[in-house]
Amino acid sequence: MSTTLLINIKEMLQIRDKSTLKVSGKDMQTLPSIKNAFLLIENDTIVDYGVMNNCPKINPDDTIDATGKIVLPAWCDSHTHIVYAGNREQEFVDRINGLSYTEIANRGGGILNSAKMLQNTTEEDLYNQSIQRVKQIIKLGTGAIEIKSGYGLSVESELKMLRVIKQIKKEFPVKIRATFLGAHAFPEVYSNNKKGYIDLIINDMLPKIAKEDLAEFIDVFCEKGYFSLEHTEAILEAGKKYGLVPKIHVNQFNAFGGVALGVKHKALSVDHLEVLNEDDINTLKHSETMPVALPSCSFFLSIPYTPARKIIDSGLPLALATDFNPGSTPSGNMNFVVSTACIKMRMTPEEAINAATINGAYAMGISDEYGSITKGKKANIIITKDIPSYNYLPYSFGENNIETVLINGKIF
Ligand code: NIG
Ligand code: FE
Repeated sequence: MSTTLLINIKEMLQIRDKSTLKVSGKDMQTLPSIKNAFLLIENDTIVDYGVMNNCPKINPDDTIDATGKIVLPAWCDSHTHIVYAGNREQEFVDRINGLSYTEIANRGGGILNSAKMLQNTTEEDLYNQSIQRVKQIIKLGTGAIEIKSGYGLSVESELKMLRVIKQIKKEFPVKIRATFLGAHAFPEVYSNNKKGYIDLIINDMLPKIAKEDLAEFIDVFCEKGYFSLEHTEAILEAGKKYGLVPKIHVNQFNAFGGVALGVKHKALSVDHLEVLNEDDINTLKHSETMPVALPSCSFFLSIPYTPARKIIDSGLPLALATDFNPGSTPSGNMNFVVSTACIKMRMTPEEAINAATINGAYAMGISDEYGSITKGKKANIIITKDIPSYNYLPYSFGENNIETVLINGKIF
């Protein structure tokens, strides 16, 4: 057994008992903390914490003096497309020159552009490109990541993506959850045969994915010009037969009932929500579904931000994630997401940190093990540099305030 003891922690955030799996509404304003704290880790698990006066007199294998530093649970990023091939910086320039995201997609760019690149990339190369990004975001404090397929769009390439995710799961100590997003866009050859592609997803992709046990969740890009409510429902129902839980892209550009459909199918989360109406809010109130906002996507595409105040002030929970992908969010920096949520969505630092830790963990179905400082949970921990207060984290946007990241109790 190996023990690590953190001592003299200026303030340790997000102390929760085991029963708290998410926080909602007004409760999001509270971020329970201990000042002048210690934290004891055995192997990969948090076993004790408290004020320094009660610090156990033991001889740990490692001691970390956190004088002047803040300790908090590692970020839980519940929505990424981190496995992709190449980049799309030309489309970025095209948008600066006046084309919209939708116009670029309609002329074969966008998701189809990434799919073309991925289809021409070997599994090994795809793995190597992807793990550079995984390492980068762990250093930025992320300790649990959901990763979607959806740039394959053929049986072979969707399986390739999901196998890469499985390999990352095996090789990295961070918690990974895999989502099958075959319904991300219609491949060109199916543009006049949408039913053909839905059938391919349901009858060909899904059984193979289930057989190799490649995914926990199922996602659909439910949006005008992409997948309709009928398509979405058919795919979620098919996924359910294989035990895949829905987590869906809805209301990015248009609100037309995607939220209600997600709730009806007990989606673990509904993500994006840049366009949200009263009906959507009321539907969410009667559900266990987590709304997820992706502010760095709004930032990068210059589209509206998810109305966080409306959501939280209605008593609902909210999670924050990056959406790390080559088209709409080429960044996996959760620190920037937390800052942007405070600056642009008027979330308080307490709300944003709750949204990026415990609620993010809930949106991956792992908040019994991740997302808070709790006895028995995994020791995935951020230790900041010497900073004045936790408000400084979102305040000093763009600055890297993280000194050390522990994953499963070990320095990464
Ligand atoms: O979540 N909205 C759909 N999918 C991604 C973007 C995909 C892309 O442009 O490559 C998103 O923003
Ligand atoms: Fe996304």
